[in-house]
Amino acid sequence: MTDWSSLPARPVLPERSTIHLFRVSLAASRYHADADWSALTTAERARAERYVVEPPRYRFLLCRRALRHCLAWLTDVSPADLAFAAARFGKPHLQWPEKTGWGFNVSHSGDWGIIAVAWQRQVGVDLEVIDPRLDTAGLAERFFAIAEQQQLSALPLEQQTAGFYRIWNTKEAYLKALGVGMSLPLGSFTVSADPQGTPGVIGGDVREGPWWGHGFEVATTAAGVVLWDQGPTLVQTWDAPAEW
Ligand SMILES: CC(C)(COP(=O)(O)OP(=O)(O)OC[C@H]1O[C@@H](n2cnc3c(N)ncnc32)[C@H](O)[C@@H]1OP(=O)(O)O)[C@@H](O)C(=O)NCCC(=O)NCCS
Repeated sequence: MTDWSSLPARPVLPERSTIHLFRVSLAASRYHADADWSALTTAERARAERYVVEPPRYRFLLCRRALRHCLAWLTDVSPADLAFAAARFGKPHLQWPEKTGWGFNVSHSGDWGIIAVAWQRQVGVDLEVIDPRLDTAGLAERFFAIAEQQQLSALPLEQQTAGFYRIWNTKEAYLKALGVGMSLPLGSFTVSADPQGTPGVIGGDVREGPWWGHGFEVATTAAGVVLWDQGPTLVQTWDAPAEW
């Protein structure tokens, strides 16, 4: 299980050479309608209202507020003053402040969010809450490359579920690092399936990069992968402070 540390108090500056992962609890107990939501724009609040059901609505609010606080901490700008823009397939980036060098990517699943930040690197992250009822064999046959299906079936039975999620997380993190969404067919590239090894894109349509990876767990039932370019480095794992 990954160790998550408390963030040091200011004025400690974030280390630029490492990848930072922030674990965010999106549990119902953290949501209070009358809390301070002033960090969010009118458009973000309107987007939240388009979720007709809970918990997706409050989870979006909690995760976006944490993202704003995180990027505010990194750039020393007030959370509400940050502006985002989206690239062609929807990958968000900082529009204001300009040219900070900080890139980020977000993923959320169930009661957890994860924010990955990296300085002057492309970064993609994916998190999935493990669903023991999922038809992993059917999904693998439908979405995974043949070489991935072969790696998966070669794993011991007790590692099959973790192997399935390792492939899923890595494929998604790769698409998100590139920012290409589903325009890149899932079967056109191959990732490593070993849930105990280092995640990586190992064959097929390997664009840009080279890519480095790290696997993590935010809870015993939620696993993820972060991928980045521009060389190997450490990954620091933080608990997002409660006030974010
Ligand atoms: C939209 C997509 C980027 C991820 O979707 P997802 O897995 O449902 O969602 P995640 O929680 O991991 O990521 C959502 C976040 O990614 C970011 N994002 C949106 N578009 C993005 C893009 N093109 N590239 C990278 N990040 C993107 C946003 O910050 C978004 O957060 P928000 O909803 O709070 O604004 C896209 O890759 C997709 O639709 N994937 C399909 C899922 C799938 O079939 N995966 C199969 C893997 S084998």
